[in-house]
Amino acid sequence: MENPKNLIIVIFGASGDLASRKLIPAIFSLKSQKLMPEKYAIIGVGRTKISTSDFRTKMSESIVAFSEEKETDKTLITSFSEDLYYHSMDNSAAGGYDELKTFLHETDDKYGIGGNYIFYLATPPSMYEVISVNLAAAGLSDQQKGFRRVIIEKPFGYDLESGRKLNARLHELISEDQIYRIDHYLGKETVQNLLVTRFSNGIFEPLWNRNYIHRVEITSAESIGVEERGGYYDSSGALRDMVQNHLLQMVGLTAMEPPSSLDADAIRNEVLKVFQSLQPIKEEDVAKQVIRGQYTGSLIRGECVTGYRNEKGVAVDSRTETYVAVKFFINNWRWGGVPFYIRTGKRLPTRVTEIVIHFKPTPHHLFQREAGKMPANQLIIRIQPDEGILVKFDMKEPGAGFNVKNVNMDFHYKDLANIRVPSAYERLLHDVMLGDSTLFSRDDEVETAWKFLEPIQKAWANNPEIKIFGYPAGTWGPEHANDLIEGEGYTWRYPCKNLADDELYCEL
Ligand code: BG6
Repeated sequence: MENPKNLIIVIFGASGDLASRKLIPAIFSLKSQKLMPEKYAIIGVGRTKISTSDFRTKMSESIVAFSEEKETDKTLITSFSEDLYYHSMDNSAAGGYDELKTFLHETDDKYGIGGNYIFYLATPPSMYEVISVNLAAAGLSDQQKGFRRVIIEKPFGYDLESGRKLNARLHELISEDQIYRIDHYLGKETVQNLLVTRFSNGIFEPLWNRNYIHRVEITSAESIGVEERGGYYDSSGALRDMVQNHLLQMVGLTAMEPPSSLDADAIRNEVLKVFQSLQPIKEEDVAKQVIRGQYTGSLIRGECVTGYRNEKGVAVDSRTETYVAVKFFINNWRWGGVPFYIRTGKRLPTRVTEIVIHFKPTPHHLFQREAGKMPANQLIIRIQPDEGILVKFDMKEPGAGFNVKNVNMDFHYKDLANIRVPSAYERLLHDVMLGDSTLFSRDDEVETAWKFLEPIQKAWANNPEIKIFGYPAGTWGPEHANDLIEGEGYTWRYPCKNLADDELYCEL
């Protein structure tokens, strides 16, 4: 594996949760695996006034608490923390950036870096513009000497208009190839494995189209509620928080044409083409094609679970969706007429993300099967947890006659010896250091995704009569979502039963 060039990573918002729970532990993991550059330094920037020494202590504690490395021995952490620095400043005040520049140059000289800087904006999105303006004004995003890259986290806007505005504003200051928009789902090993499953095997691709596939289903379920993020979530909702980015990216990789190469733009061009082919949902069809829900209080395994409207930071009369299911089509030769169903929600019975390819049934049913069971094969790509791939197919039940049983062929990543699945942030940070933007959302992808969602956002805003269904926490969301699935006898796949009336029981 290639090692990145010497560099400095500047983390704005270094006293926040993202830095301590994800970024620093991920960089520590890269260091443990010898994937960091020979020389590097990390500078945490924030308004909180703490010393470098306190920052080192705080980050060392975070590594112990959140690192996925098995080896977090003290010596390793101490040597890692020696390259961490803290610089206190107000990110929004232009005045502080000259001092930051001086500090960066001093650190650069001390290590012999050569001018390569990455700026990670681990701040609220409202700060992206002002930080970028100040970096540009101080000449810090200028690539005359070394590379300058800027990482931003979603949300990339709030709707099509604000998404476009944000991109346009960033482009006035830095070029698109300096911007790395993080979608942490693309950093997940199993999401990347979609490319390998599809394009490194001869057996799937010939079947991967409208002739053999009946429907595609993508689920990203969470058992947790909004936790401490009620304030943010209530102004966002599941459509913006999960569908605009993570779910549509999974649709893109599932539905794309084979790229001509592994080049970042070759792959992202194909994902963009999928987004451009999404059949627009008319505003008047939103109620039929999109089901939204909100969790209500319930009892899970004897414990009271708060309803969404009673969560901290959430309005008591909130109409924000914590669940959304969408049915849509992709208008191209490969997928014409194949329904895609995607759903995501909080406070569902379990945490699971999976892509289910439902193949068409055989044209003629020769064999007897259990009453009510539909003959069909499924390929299930389990993104998380228990990462792997499952194929469901029919087999003869031993004994007299020709009774058919549906059985599983199951691959689990965990069965691979000595394989550790890296965290999404590890992979993505390493890619930014290498300058590989394959797994980052490009400006046009983001805008096209917003464009697809625009009629849904408008319909919900303009028609309060479009229902938001309550669903008890711990269940699979509103039952109305079942009405989306076309065809007699077809339903969503339920990887485990409803929790509310049963103990968790997974039958993957
Ligand atoms: C984030 C959303 O992007 O993804 C959260 O803002 C959500 O609301 C999270 O909980 C889910 O990520 P994961 O990796 O746990 O599936």
